[in-house]
Amino acid sequence: MARVFSFMLEDLKSSFSRDLAAASSVRELLDLQSRYFGAKGAVKELFKQLKSLSAEEKKELGAAINPFSEAAQAELKEKLERVSAREDAEREARETIDVTLPSRPPRLGHLHPITIVRRELEQIFREMGYTIDPGPEVESDWYNFEALNFTPDHPARDTQDTFFVDVDKLLLRTHTSNVQIRSMERFQPPVKVLSAGRVFRRDEITMRRSPMFHQCEGLLVDKGIHIGHLRATLEHMVRRLFGSDAKMRMRPSYFPFTEPSAEVDMSCIFCKGKGCGTCSQTGWMEILGCGMVHPQVLRNVGIDPEQWSGFAFGLGIDRVAMLKFDIPNIRTLFENDLRVLQQF
Ligand code: PHE
Repeated sequence: MARVFSFMLEDLKSSFSRDLAAASSVRELLDLQSRYFGAKGAVKELFKQLKSLSAEEKKELGAAINPFSEAAQAELKEKLERVSAREDAEREARETIDVTLPSRPPRLGHLHPITIVRRELEQIFREMGYTIDPGPEVESDWYNFEALNFTPDHPARDTQDTFFVDVDKLLLRTHTSNVQIRSMERFQPPVKVLSAGRVFRRDEITMRRSPMFHQCEGLLVDKGIHIGHLRATLEHMVRRLFGSDAKMRMRPSYFPFTEPSAEVDMSCIFCKGKGCGTCSQTGWMEILGCGMVHPQVLRNVGIDPEQWSGFAFGLGIDRVAMLKFDIPNIRTLFENDLRVLQQF
């Protein structure tokens, strides 16, 4: 019996020598290692079969297997190191970096529809000599309300349901009209400013309304300014934004800080004026409020209304973006869905 095992061991030795000589890559050598010396390898198998032998024979054969196993593994390790060093060197020689290769161009992002409209508006008014000033989003009651002729208990405050920041009457501006006051305080007339930015109101979210939206405020104060200047300016703006056959209408309205006041509607592009959910069945979409600067507002900032007059308007950028880009629901603008944004 023991002789059979010593033949098996001899076989193993010679097949190992053959396989080792034949293996020429790290992959083959690692494979060889597990075939001979792994948990289920040939050497382990041989040990298992020794079980049937007597203790004496076991000892003798075991003593013959171990030196072979050690010597063979040392040989294998040595070749593995040699081959692996050679393969590394070959790989390095192959993988030269061509520093003259042009780099991949960075992927360009897209402008948000609101940014597109804002920039367009800024461009239109910059061409007419307006200064661009975004103004602060966190504002005091004075700039957002009081100086604009909203007395403390003025009912119009209710139409601009306000987010308060703290008890000192700091608030999130409900419109961009705060910039009217700030600009007139800062510059002596003539004043021409355009201000675009975010505004906040405690409104329910609907197809057209969101608690955060965007406005663009225009203010012009000079000598002899009348409502004809306002109308011409708005018509120019609307034509630039929507093309020369865009339809707009002006309706009398009320704001505490303008007199007279008006609202401007565009015909609803979603239903072509027939009435739909987006325009509340009216066929029109309100895009801005405007009017002649109230004399009391001028007085509030130390400008003499006998000498100077002006107009102001506040336009809903989101509404304009919806009309321009055919977006029926305002929420689409704020969901940041890449499939939507990539279209612009
Ligand atoms: N601030 C007004 C609003 O938010 C719009 C407006 C601006 C009206 C300027 C008149 C003049 O509705």
